[in-house]
Amino acid sequence: MNRRITGRSLSVLHSAALLCFCHATAAVEYRLASPSGDITLEFGLTESGQPSYSAKYDGQAAIDRSLLGFDFRRAADLVDGMVVEQVDRSSADTTWEQPWGEQRLIRDHYNEMRLTLSESAAPARRMELVFRAYDDGIAFRYRLPEQENLDRVEILDELSEFNLSGDYSAWWTPALAGEKYEYLTRNTPLEQVELVHTPLTLTRERGPALAIHEAVLKDYATMNLRGEGHSLKAALVPIHKGSPVKVEARTPFSTPWRTVQMADSETGLITSYLTLNLNEPNKLGDVSWVHPGKYVGIWWELHLEKGTWHSGPKHGATTENTKKYIDFAAQNGFDGVLVEGWNRGWDGEWWNHGGGAFRFTEAYPDYDVDALSRYASDRGVYLIGHHETGAETDNYERQLEEAYDFLQQHGMKAVKTGYVETGELLTNNNYHHGQRFVQHAGKVTRTAAEHKVMVVAHETVKDTGERRTYPNLVSREVARGQEYNAWAEDGGNPPNHTTIIPFTRMLAGPMDFTPGIFDLTLPSRPDNQVNTTLAKQLALYVVIYSPVQMAADLPENYRKYPDAFQFIKDVAVDWETTRVLSGDIGQHVAIARQVRGGEDWFVGAITNEKARDVALDLDFLDTGRSYTATIYRDGEKADYRANPESYVIESRRVNAGDKIRTRLAPGGGMAIRLAAESK
Ligand code: NOJ
Repeated sequence: MNRRITGRSLSVLHSAALLCFCHATAAVEYRLASPSGDITLEFGLTESGQPSYSAKYDGQAAIDRSLLGFDFRRAADLVDGMVVEQVDRSSADTTWEQPWGEQRLIRDHYNEMRLTLSESAAPARRMELVFRAYDDGIAFRYRLPEQENLDRVEILDELSEFNLSGDYSAWWTPALAGEKYEYLTRNTPLEQVELVHTPLTLTRERGPALAIHEAVLKDYATMNLRGEGHSLKAALVPIHKGSPVKVEARTPFSTPWRTVQMADSETGLITSYLTLNLNEPNKLGDVSWVHPGKYVGIWWELHLEKGTWHSGPKHGATTENTKKYIDFAAQNGFDGVLVEGWNRGWDGEWWNHGGGAFRFTEAYPDYDVDALSRYASDRGVYLIGHHETGAETDNYERQLEEAYDFLQQHGMKAVKTGYVETGELLTNNNYHHGQRFVQHAGKVTRTAAEHKVMVVAHETVKDTGERRTYPNLVSREVARGQEYNAWAEDGGNPPNHTTIIPFTRMLAGPMDFTPGIFDLTLPSRPDNQVNTTLAKQLALYVVIYSPVQMAADLPENYRKYPDAFQFIKDVAVDWETTRVLSGDIGQHVAIARQVRGGEDWFVGAITNEKARDVALDLDFLDTGRSYTATIYRDGEKADYRANPESYVIESRRVNAGDKIRTRLAPGGGMAIRLAAESK
């Protein structure tokens, strides 16, 4: 542990071929291998002097030779005519501890190669390329050092490519004109990939599963990928609508890391922590004020239109209603109560460029925020603030300091932020995924940290592992969550949705999916229903990782099923370790997680629309003990369409090596609590 070897530095003259072997398109190559040697990477300059790389997994081509470089505005492109000036190699093997997470201890083990390149002719501008090879993938980033001939930079295009060979099946969501992330995942052959978000997951019959994403997205535009046959090209989101410029920067700066996670199959991607490893360590110091926890709130009733966010006779966020939720939370051991629609600004068309009306320190008159904060605190519960911005980031930023002071003064340890916009644009013609929004999101996280507030962000930019550096950024939505089941005209989330996102969206980081709906047929919404069984809703607490988990349904629906509700009360949100027991993207997945600092385990297993027999091998249990398994499974005739609320709860004694066999119903699932008996 904590061993670091740095700096074997090689000064290389222009055409000297150290570590050289020839390739059809690369004259000089520099090789980097992962610690186990299973993943290898080669860097080379093409005959015209353009940087390029390729990678292999277990000796097989994973990424074919792919080009790198930049197109700039008002400056010559940084593409051809480069030479290698210097190569520095280093390695690291450290283990670090997450303050909270799906895995407490994470090993960060890699070999690094840093190449300093320069143009062979004037103005001889310099660029560095840093490559890392881990045993679960590769990463690279560009660094443009401070230099006379490259100061202010306007990036028109980053030319990074990911050229793939082989017949990959691609799992992707469209990146429509920089719009939101809330689309169903499409599965097509690689050649049919359009402009897509990352993580992009690629699977194939034989050969590794890959996921292309990025890490440390800071002061830069999001990288989407554009498919062209077997090639994927970086497509940065424009800085403003209509602008050819994607990023404005000043040297020195580094781009985010471009990452390709690799595993024998897609289940191995789930426990790859490469994105986190690439992020900088915690910058906040003591984060004992960041607590994983569970919450309830005035939320689902608004989506069911039983109440409103806006003022009026059906206003949901009243003092009286909030007290009911606080009482319910206190009685059942929840940590927080989210209240949406508490503040001024909801009465106009807030979703349609009307977000400038939001006031983040002014409660509606029927919501006594001072009294409620005290009421909650007296009962050991805290209120969770809600900052819907209607995508008016300027209005939000103007109020940021006072808004977070207000949260802190009212003991609100967490806030849910939101950036709903019916069009595609934020304030100033900015995109949700462009450089300006990335800057905004960073500012919000830092301001929240200064006030000791945890952030759960909706409609924000995708996760690239920032939680390592800012552990108060606990969760985000950034995919279709539970809410789509209440109102989406396309029938809500189909049963396979949650069997896909563990292998795609969840590779980015925690998701505030808000599971736990028990009243699945949604009597008040005749055209909608939740397309799962009740047992599957329980399994989602384990399958979809988040350190803050909502029990999203109404208290009266939990009171109807107290025995099933017990699982939500018991399930942990902070984990020692995570094991994927089985999985096939889009079909089924089973995940086991051990409670952090404890002996107990929880398991979630889910299927798509097909019923399926599962036999879960309990070989992850400690061999020296017995466990009481409480199994929450689908009833014999359960079916997400006709009989979703049928479940059975069984208890039995199990040991390591036993198997739990059951049948998951169509759209079904199973949740298990494994309580360790004393030795
Ligand atoms: C969309 C969010 O995802 C949802 O959770 C929230 O209730 C609404 N916006 C209103 O802010």
